[in-house]
Amino acid sequence: MIHVTINGAPRTLTGPPEGRLIDALRLELGLTGTKEGCGEGECGSCTVLLDGAPVNACLVASGQVAGRALVTIEGIAEAPATVIGAALARCFIEHGGAQCGICTPGMVIAAHALLSRQPDPTEAEIREAIAGNLCRCTGYQRIVNSILAAAALLRVGGANSAEGER
Ligand code: FES
Ligand code: FES
Repeated sequence: MIHVTINGAPRTLTGPPEGRLIDALRLELGLTGTKEGCGEGECGSCTVLLDGAPVNACLVASGQVAGRALVTIEGIAEAPATVIGAALARCFIEHGGAQCGICTPGMVIAAHALLSRQPDPTEAEIREAIAGNLCRCTGYQRIVNSILAAAALLRVGGANSAEGER
Protein backbone atom coordinates (compact mmCIF):
# COMPACT_ATOMS: atom_id res chain seq x y z
CA MET A 1 0.00 0.00 0.00
CA ILE A 2 1.16 3.49 -0.84
CA HIS A 3 0.43 6.33 1.56
CA VAL A 4 0.29 9.77 -0.02
CA THR A 5 -1.30 13.14 0.65
CA ILE A 6 -3.67 14.08 -2.16
CA ASN A 7 -5.27 17.52 -2.23
CA GLY A 8 -4.44 17.94 1.45
CA ALA A 9 -5.92 14.67 2.66
CA PRO A 10 -4.15 11.39 3.51
CA ARG A 11 -4.96 8.70 0.93
CA THR A 12 -3.87 5.12 0.36
CA LEU A 13 -3.21 3.62 -3.05
CA THR A 14 -3.64 -0.13 -3.22
CA GLY A 15 -2.51 -0.78 -6.77
CA PRO A 16 0.96 -1.96 -7.77
CA PRO A 17 3.79 0.51 -7.08
CA GLU A 18 4.93 0.16 -10.67
CA GLY A 19 1.48 1.10 -11.97
CA ARG A 20 0.96 4.49 -13.56
CA LEU A 21 -0.04 7.33 -11.25
CA ILE A 22 -2.67 8.51 -13.74
CA ASP A 23 -4.44 5.15 -13.47
CA ALA A 24 -4.36 5.25 -9.68
CA LEU A 25 -5.85 8.75 -9.73
CA ARG A 26 -8.52 8.16 -12.35
CA LEU A 27 -9.46 4.51 -11.89
CA GLU A 28 -8.76 3.86 -8.22
CA LEU A 29 -9.61 7.23 -6.69
CA GLY A 30 -12.06 8.56 -9.28
CA LEU A 31 -10.10 11.79 -9.72
CA THR A 32 -10.99 12.01 -13.40
CA GLY A 33 -10.17 15.71 -13.74
CA THR A 34 -6.66 14.61 -14.66
CA LYS A 35 -6.87 13.80 -18.36
CA GLU A 36 -4.93 11.34 -20.47
CA GLY A 37 -3.97 12.54 -23.93
CA CYS A 38 -0.89 10.86 -25.32
CA GLY A 39 0.06 8.57 -22.44
CA GLU A 40 3.70 9.11 -23.42
CA GLY A 41 4.78 12.28 -21.62
CA GLU A 42 4.32 14.51 -24.64
CA CYS A 43 1.07 16.46 -24.19
CA GLY A 44 0.88 17.55 -20.55
CA SER A 45 -2.85 16.90 -20.20
CA CYS A 46 -2.12 14.64 -17.23
CA THR A 47 -0.12 17.28 -15.32
CA VAL A 48 -0.37 17.18 -11.52
CA LEU A 49 1.70 18.85 -8.82
CA LEU A 50 4.10 16.60 -6.91
CA ASP A 51 5.53 18.46 -3.92
CA GLY A 52 4.54 21.64 -5.77
CA ALA A 53 6.24 20.83 -9.07
CA PRO A 54 4.36 19.92 -12.27
CA VAL A 55 4.85 16.30 -13.37
CA ASN A 56 3.21 14.07 -15.99
CA ALA A 57 1.07 11.53 -14.16
CA CYS A 58 1.33 9.15 -17.13
CA LEU A 59 5.09 8.86 -16.59
CA VAL A 60 5.16 8.66 -12.77
CA ALA A 61 4.86 5.29 -11.06
CA SER A 62 2.50 5.16 -8.11
CA GLY A 63 5.32 4.02 -5.86
CA GLN A 64 7.19 7.26 -6.56
CA VAL A 65 4.59 9.35 -4.72
CA ALA A 66 4.83 7.47 -1.41
CA GLY A 67 5.03 9.93 1.48
CA ARG A 68 4.74 12.92 -0.80
CA ALA A 69 2.14 15.63 -1.46
CA LEU A 70 0.12 15.47 -4.64
CA VAL A 71 -2.29 18.08 -5.96
CA THR A 72 -4.69 17.40 -8.81
CA ILE A 73 -6.99 19.77 -10.65
CA GLU A 74 -9.74 18.86 -8.18
CA GLY A 75 -7.55 20.20 -5.38
CA ILE A 76 -7.28 23.67 -6.86
CA ALA A 77 -10.42 24.16 -8.94
CA GLU A 78 -13.22 22.42 -7.05
CA ALA A 79 -14.87 24.21 -4.15
CA PRO A 80 -13.24 25.26 -1.99
CA ALA A 81 -10.88 26.25 -4.78
CA THR A 82 -7.55 27.83 -4.05
CA VAL A 83 -7.48 31.59 -4.62
CA ILE A 84 -5.18 31.08 -7.61
CA GLY A 85 -7.33 28.23 -8.92
CA ALA A 86 -10.49 30.34 -8.70
CA ALA A 87 -8.85 33.21 -10.57
CA LEU A 88 -7.57 30.87 -13.27
CA ALA A 89 -10.96 29.18 -13.67
CA ARG A 90 -12.70 32.52 -14.00
CA CYS A 91 -10.18 33.94 -16.46
CA PHE A 92 -9.98 30.81 -18.62
CA ILE A 93 -13.74 31.14 -19.09
CA GLU A 94 -13.73 34.90 -19.64
CA HIS A 95 -10.81 34.85 -22.11
CA GLY A 96 -11.63 31.69 -24.06
CA GLY A 97 -8.67 29.74 -22.67
CA ALA A 98 -10.69 26.53 -22.65
CA GLN A 99 -12.30 25.20 -25.79
CA CYS A 100 -12.54 21.40 -26.10
CA GLY A 101 -11.09 21.27 -22.56
CA ILE A 102 -8.83 18.23 -22.85
CA CYS A 103 -5.70 20.28 -22.18
CA THR A 104 -7.30 22.63 -19.67
CA PRO A 105 -6.68 20.80 -16.37
CA GLY A 106 -3.00 20.41 -17.23
CA MET A 107 -2.75 24.02 -18.36
CA VAL A 108 -4.38 25.25 -15.16
CA ILE A 109 -2.08 23.10 -13.03
CA ALA A 110 1.01 24.42 -14.86
CA ALA A 111 -0.27 27.99 -14.54
CA HIS A 112 -1.00 27.46 -10.85
CA ALA A 113 2.59 26.37 -10.27
CA LEU A 114 3.84 29.46 -12.11
CA LEU A 115 1.61 31.96 -10.29
CA SER A 116 2.48 30.36 -6.95
CA ARG A 117 6.12 31.37 -7.43
CA GLN A 118 5.77 34.33 -9.80
CA PRO A 119 2.71 36.54 -9.26
CA ASP A 120 3.60 38.94 -12.06
CA PRO A 121 4.80 36.76 -14.94
CA THR A 122 5.73 38.03 -18.37
CA GLU A 123 4.14 36.49 -21.46
CA ALA A 124 7.46 34.75 -22.12
CA GLU A 125 7.48 33.25 -18.61
CA ILE A 126 3.92 32.00 -19.13
CA ARG A 127 4.80 30.42 -22.45
CA GLU A 128 7.80 28.74 -20.84
CA ALA A 129 5.66 27.45 -17.94
CA ILE A 130 3.15 25.84 -20.32
CA ALA A 131 5.73 24.68 -22.85
CA GLY A 132 5.10 21.06 -21.90
CA ASN A 133 1.35 21.37 -22.37
CA LEU A 134 -0.04 20.95 -25.86
CA CYS A 135 -3.29 22.52 -27.07
CA ARG A 136 -4.81 21.77 -30.45
CA CYS A 137 -7.67 24.27 -30.20
CA THR A 138 -6.73 27.71 -28.95
CA GLY A 139 -3.49 28.64 -30.68
CA TYR A 140 -2.16 29.30 -27.14
CA GLN A 141 -2.69 33.08 -27.17
CA ARG A 142 -6.05 32.79 -25.42
CA ILE A 143 -4.48 30.60 -22.78
CA VAL A 144 -1.66 33.09 -22.28
CA ASN A 145 -4.21 35.90 -22.06
CA SER A 146 -6.20 33.91 -19.49
CA ILE A 147 -3.14 33.43 -17.30
CA LEU A 148 -2.08 37.08 -17.64
CA ALA A 149 -5.62 38.12 -16.63
CA ALA A 150 -5.62 35.75 -13.65
CA ALA A 151 -2.30 37.15 -12.47
CA ALA A 152 -3.63 40.71 -12.78
CA LEU A 153 -6.81 39.75 -10.95
CA LEU A 154 -4.84 38.19 -8.13
CA ARG A 155 -2.57 41.21 -7.78
CA VAL A 156 -5.55 43.48 -7.17
CA GLY A 157 -7.20 40.90 -4.91
CA GLY A 158 -10.13 40.47 -7.28
CA ALA A 159 -10.39 36.73 -6.87
CA ASN A 160 -11.00 37.11 -3.14
CA SER A 161 -14.57 38.16 -3.78
CA ALA A 162 -15.48 34.83 -5.40
CA GLU A 163 -17.25 32.21 -3.32
CA GLY A 164 -15.85 28.88 -2.19
CA GLU A 165 -12.16 29.74 -2.13
CA ARG A 166 -9.43 28.91 0.28
FE1 FES B 1 0.65 12.36 -19.94
FE2 FES B 1 0.20 13.17 -22.42
S1 FES B 1 -1.08 11.94 -21.15
S2 FES B 1 1.84 13.73 -21.11
FE1 FES C 1 -8.75 21.76 -26.87
FE2 FES C 1 -6.66 22.84 -25.64
S1 FES C 1 -8.72 23.52 -25.56
S2 FES C 1 -6.73 20.97 -26.71
